[in-house]
Amino acid sequence: MYKSVLNIVFGKNILPTDNDEQYQILEEHFTKFDRQIEYGSKLPAFVLGAWSKSRKYLITMFQNIVDPEKQKSQELCPDDKTLLHNLLECVDIENAPNYSVLLLWATLANSIPMVFWTIAFIVTQESVYKKVCEEIERELPSTFETISDADLRKLPYLKSCILETVRLRSPGIIPRYVTKPFEVKGYTVPAGNLVFASPFWAHRNPEYYPDPETHKPERWNMKDVERNIFPEYFFAFGGGRFQCPGRWFGLMEIQIFAIMFLKQFKCEAFDPVPPPSPLHAVGTQQPEGPCMIEFTRLPGKC
Ligand code: HEM
Repeated sequence: MYKSVLNIVFGKNILPTDNDEQYQILEEHFTKFDRQIEYGSKLPAFVLGAWSKSRKYLITMFQNIVDPEKQKSQELCPDDKTLLHNLLECVDIENAPNYSVLLLWATLANSIPMVFWTIAFIVTQESVYKKVCEEIERELPSTFETISDADLRKLPYLKSCILETVRLRSPGIIPRYVTKPFEVKGYTVPAGNLVFASPFWAHRNPEYYPDPETHKPERWNMKDVERNIFPEYFFAFGGGRFQCPGRWFGLMEIQIFAIMFLKQFKCEAFDPVPPPSPLHAVGTQQPEGPCMIEFTRLPGKC
């Protein structure tokens, strides 16, 4: 999944997705960078030597890419521009490698673990797994080479499973710098402070989500799910003008992966869904332990 996402967001083979050896080096550096991003972005480089080395590798990689891609972008019509081209039009060239690394992290660090969690929550619950597979078989019975937006709209139950997963595994905190003082419950928060909102805890408020720890796709209103309307107490993607710009793309990636995987393989889970690790506070949490699943290819499936 990493490779296809990189080709869409940055352009085909702009990152070394066609060279196994170089791609493996990129993946190793990205993994190290991701593991310690919260500490690395706050501490001096010498404290986290390995993390700083991986960050430098990623920045140098983008230094060689941003200039030619910015030039190319000027000749392309809007529909042919990648997300990277759009980013390069908004930032100055000396900061472009840093912003590109941020885009790389935001693109991969949230939706890829969310794919893992979605599959784990579906296949570990027999009735949910059965209902998702029945919906996919009923609405998309034939084998296919492409999945359209219209196809995705026919699967609201699968989408509810994904949103319910996002609810339970959304980032711990979303930070904001206070630029103007504001009041909360009689206290003034002065400018210059950092405040945090927590989707993790908000999504566990029993007033809005009764029995909050249970993964229940049925709690989502199907009409709202079909129309892409989230309840106001759901903010896994942040809010305001810094809200996640990749949210629809991220959800689509998870939908497509889940359809392709569940249509081709019969799954049996041997472990329950593992608890989330406390590794990330600002990104999607990783699993703390394994979730063993046996999957067997279904006969005659694409
Ligand atoms: C399920 C998947 C995802 C989740 C849960 C998620 C969550 C978030 C959250 C919580 C933020 C911070 C929002 C805020 O500060 O209010 C964010 C920002 C961002 N996300 Fe996502 N995201 C996901 C997928 C993606 C994807 C696939 C992309 C790119 C294609 C992406 C690109 C970004 C970018 C560029 C930002 C920074 C926006 C800014 O600071 O203005 N995200 N995301």
